[in-house]
Amino acid sequence: MKLAGKVALITGSAQGIGQAIALRLAQDGADILIDDRPGNTGAEETRKEIEALGRKAVVLGGDLANTADDRRLIAQGLAGLGKIDILVNNAGVEKHADFWDVTEKDFDFVLDINLRGTFFLTQDFVNHLRETKRPGKIINVSSVHEELPFPHFSTYCASKGALKMLCRDLAIELAPLGITINNIAPGAIQTPINTKLLNSPDLLKALLGNIPLNRLGTGADVAGVASFLASSDSDYITGTTLFVDGGLLWNYSEQ
Ligand code: BGC
Repeated sequence: MKLAGKVALITGSAQGIGQAIALRLAQDGADILIDDRPGNTGAEETRKEIEALGRKAVVLGGDLANTADDRRLIAQGLAGLGKIDILVNNAGVEKHADFWDVTEKDFDFVLDINLRGTFFLTQDFVNHLRETKRPGKIINVSSVHEELPFPHFSTYCASKGALKMLCRDLAIELAPLGITINNIAPGAIQTPINTKLLNSPDLLKALLGNIPLNRLGTGADVAGVASFLASSDSDYITGTTLFVDGGLLWNYSEQ
């Protein structure tokens, strides 16, 4: 098992892509620190499934939107499983609004979770690795929208574009510490963030028309890439983005 002996912390792992990543890393041998918004019952579900695989799992109680909580997450994880080797910054939210209607409240909601939480959690993780003089792996789940415009989701695009540059920048700064950082950029994946889309046949049909592989992705499609990036198979990869989007990003054709 390629992740045997490793401990991974995955944010937003009570559901969707984060849950799929948690289960896949556990299948590959890692013990798992689960984190999601307080009260999300999916966290317990994830824990039970991981334990059924014979791995250890601990549920952390932190809300990424709250910097004080971010500051406690790594310490909580260390108290739970003793060390952390892999951080998957997966938690993310989006809000639909015309640019001119975006409220400060919604701006803060999206940026606090997608960017600020990721930034400071990563900082604490890096400090843990520095203190223990160990290498590590950071994986950010960004989006095709770190590159591709998504009209009416300006806050989401701003946060994901920032994750693109954070990844490029930290790759250089962290390389001397033996820490790699890469982004996974999912396209349209069947998860709760897409509930509205999944329930609207017209929207879905139009979207599928833009996806060359002509299907939505699954959590497992993303989790396989996360497992690769978490393993030593990816040791020479840092500062890049792997798109998991069925060809959506570069789709263009003329008759
Ligand atoms: C967004 C989805 C969107 C997909 C493709 C994802 O990052 O969360 O809402 O459907 O990108 O545009």
